Parts: sequence; structure tokens; C-alpha cells
Amino acid sequence: MLNKACTYVIFGATGNLSRVKLMPALYHLEMENRLPQGSKILAIGRRDWDNDKLITEAREMIDAKARGGLDEDVFQRFSEKLSYAKVNIDEADDYLKLAKELNNSGDFPSNMAFYLAISPEYFADVIEKLSHVNLLKQTSGWRRMIIEKPFGYDLESSQALQQRISRYLDEEQIYRIDHYLGKGTVQNVLVFRFANVMLEPLWNRHYIDHIQITHSEDMGIGSRASYYDDAGAMRDMLQSHLLQLLTLVAMEPPASMDAESLRDEKVKVLKSIRPITKQSVNACAFRAQYSEGIIDGKKVNGYLQEENVPANSVTETYAAMKLYVDNWRWSDVPFYLRTGKRMAKGQSSISICFKQPPLQFFQDTPIQCKNPNWLLLGIQPEECIRMEMTVKEPGLEMRTRVRSLDASFRNDNESHTDAYEDLLLDVIEGDRSLFLRFDEVEYAWRIVDPILQKWAVERDFITTYPAGSWGPTECQRLFETDKQYWRSSLTPSKCE
Ligand code: BG6
Repeated sequence: MLNKACTYVIFGATGNLSRVKLMPALYHLEMENRLPQGSKILAIGRRDWDNDKLITEAREMIDAKARGGLDEDVFQRFSEKLSYAKVNIDEADDYLKLAKELNNSGDFPSNMAFYLAISPEYFADVIEKLSHVNLLKQTSGWRRMIIEKPFGYDLESSQALQQRISRYLDEEQIYRIDHYLGKGTVQNVLVFRFANVMLEPLWNRHYIDHIQITHSEDMGIGSRASYYDDAGAMRDMLQSHLLQLLTLVAMEPPASMDAESLRDEKVKVLKSIRPITKQSVNACAFRAQYSEGIIDGKKVNGYLQEENVPANSVTETYAAMKLYVDNWRWSDVPFYLRTGKRMAKGQSSISICFKQPPLQFFQDTPIQCKNPNWLLLGIQPEECIRMEMTVKEPGLEMRTRVRSLDASFRNDNESHTDAYEDLLLDVIEGDRSLFLRFDEVEYAWRIVDPILQKWAVERDFITTYPAGSWGPTECQRLFETDKQYWRSSLTPSKCE
């Protein structure tokens, strides 16, 4: 029988991603008995930790996140899989030691997944050094490389990174992660669209007025200024997570659910997006930065007052875009995407606004309600699928109200799994469908590059919005008509 046991080698294991996502996700996989028998986790960091220290730290990391509280029996099993290796990622000799440990100690299964939870500037170096000590050759087992976002800083740097790493890895060994694709409701977009026949006839330019994709956070940038001030909201969220959501909403049904068919269809969407030229940037994109404001009744700093942010920074903490997918299904339907830190509420959602019915039917009646139908897909924190309909109010009068049909998919007794659990398991199982192929990354950069280039040179001014608000009102100018507006609520609004 095929040996399924594997070694998860985590670079950056002492860092934040490992603390809040990876260790808890691996623990939960152990809890669900999904880690193949005999699997091991080798945590790698620069710090002077040993195995005992790692286990103590892992307990703390997991304790904060464990579903239903940390289970001692599961943690005992989990900790037996853990070990620590101190590696200076610049030091070639350290890789020799690492290779010896992995290959000769007899402790580690030869199927190996390397997770790069490190700063992106080291991605290529680490891959190169692993290759020099022959750890990427798939002679005695599979070798897979999981690369966190951002994959490059713009189109050119992503191509350079790709060129460099493809000397050492075949595409089928590379797992470019976009953790949004591991979220339950995001996967549900595909099931909802392709397992139900009812919506398909409506899912096009004839019935849909426009589509909005929102990711808002009430958190600020915390201690991430060194990364965030260079990245900004466009690179951090829009180029990656939000464009991925757009592809799932807009794609054609794939020939099958295998990785290549799915990714082919996503790439077709990205290729069909009307290019934004430098001249059209102002009409199609908007950026802003949070100023001080009130969140949860407390005064919070503006971006410029955050730790380590340069006093004259014009980095955007809010970004919005209007895109058109120029194909038969979507021609002339605007897709509005927005994201922001320190907004009124932390929420991710997709809101699909249908066209108005022909209203002649209601002429000469007192009906005032002209709300269009909305289909709302709540991604987080509220997971829901809701269709808003207009119904008649009870009573003698002909009045209407909006009600929503709810297809929420989680029963009360069903727990929430984190996106990383799903994705870490997919790597072990060799399923790349929820990971990005290079052409997806490349086309996503092509879309936002002209905007980034223009913003990079226009450094005199940036609009601000008060922390705790829904963003700058000026952003309204992206809308095609004055009937369109940012939809922030997942519950029916009053009749207009
Ligand atoms: C990350 C971004 O990729 O996604 C963060 O770098 C952002 O800035 C985060 O906060 C949002 O992810 P989630 O899963 O919390 O919605």
C-alpha cells in the first residue's frame, strides 16, 4: 500500500502565521484523525528553541484556538509528532544539517511538504538552498512547496520569482496559497452555483445589475507596518483574495472539479477583465487611508500614528475598484470590489444586485417599494446565503416589504473549520484545486499593475476616512448610476 505518512516542514514556525493559523490547523487535523499515521512536523526557526520549548509554545498557540478547548489526549498525540530545528535561512551549512536530519535520522517520512511562512523576500533563496541539498528531488517520496502570499510585489517581480523557482520545482510541486479559497462559504459559491439549476438562467448580464465584493476589517494594521506600508490594501487584499472571489462568482462551469479544469476557468475570467489603462485609473479605482476615529466606543489612532508608519506615508488602507468582465455572460455588468482596515465592521461578503422588474405592473397602485432582488453571500463572520424578495404585507392595503430566503448551510451543532485546515490537508492529498496556478497570479497582477504604478507616483495626497466608518464617501463616484450604492448589510433594508 502507498505510504501516505508525510513530514510537514514549517519555515517560520516561531512566527505569527504559525502561531495563529498553522499549529492550530495541524492540531485540528490530528483531532479529526486526518494526519496520515506516522506523519511528523518539523518546526524551523532562527530562535534557540529545543523540542521541549516548541511543545510548550505549541500548547500556548493551540490553547488560544482549539475548538472546544485543548484536549489533552489529542495534544499528547500531536506533541509526539513535533520537533524543532534551528536553521539560519541564509546559512548554506544549516541546510546540509537539515537534509541530514530529514534523510538519515529515520525519524521523518520521506513525503515532505515545505511551508514557507516567512518573509516573501526569502522565498526564492530558501527554495534554491533546499534544492542544493537535494531536498526537492522526488526520488523517494513527493516533495511539495507551499508558498504564502504575496507572490511577487507586482507583475515583473512575480515573473522573476516564478522564473527563479521553476528552476528547482515543477509546477505540480508548487502550492501557492490564497487562504480565502479554503473558507467554507467561498467553496460554497461553487456548490451553490453549479449544484443548483435555478440560478443559472439568471446568472448573467440580462438579469444582474451589478456585483459587489467587500472585505472590511475593524482592526488596524497592528504591528505589521513594516510589511503593510510597502504593500497597501490593493496588494494585500484586492490583487489576491478579492480577485479570487470574483473569479468564482464569474467563471463558467468547469468541465470537472479537477485542479486544471477549475483553474482554467478562473484564468479565463481574469483574462477577460477589461484592462485598466493609466488614463482610466481614476475612473476605476479609489484609495484612502484611515484617520483617527472611534471603534467600539474607543478612540483609535489614524494610520499615520500607528507604530513604525512613516509620517508622510500615502499607503492606502482602503482600496476599491470597478471592473468589467468582457465576455458573453458579463458584458457591461460592473463588479465593484472594496476592502479596508479600521472600518465600521469586520465582514466579508458578496452582494449580487439583480435588475428591477418592469414596474408597469404596479403602476396606479400605492406600491412604493422598488427594491431590487439581492442575493447575499456572507463569508465571515456571518456565513449565509440569502435571497431577498419583495412580498406583500398582510392587511387590507397593497403594501410590500422585503424578506429573505435563507439557505444557510451550517446546522447549529456543526463546528467551523478554519481555511488552513482544509488547505494543509489538500497539500497532503496532492489536491491543487484550491491553490493558485502561476498564470492566475500573473493575470491578477496585470489587472492591478497600472493602478499601482499610478498610485506610486501620485504621492502628494490621499483621501482619508475616519476609523470606524464605512470608508470615504467620495468612493461613491465609482458607481455607474446613482441608484447603486455600497451594500454593507446582510439584512433587508427598508423599502426605498
Ligand atoms: C491576509 C492579509 O492575507 O488576509 C491581512 O495580509 C488580512 O491584512 C487577512 O487581515 C484577512 O484574512 P481573514 O481570513 O482574517 O479574513
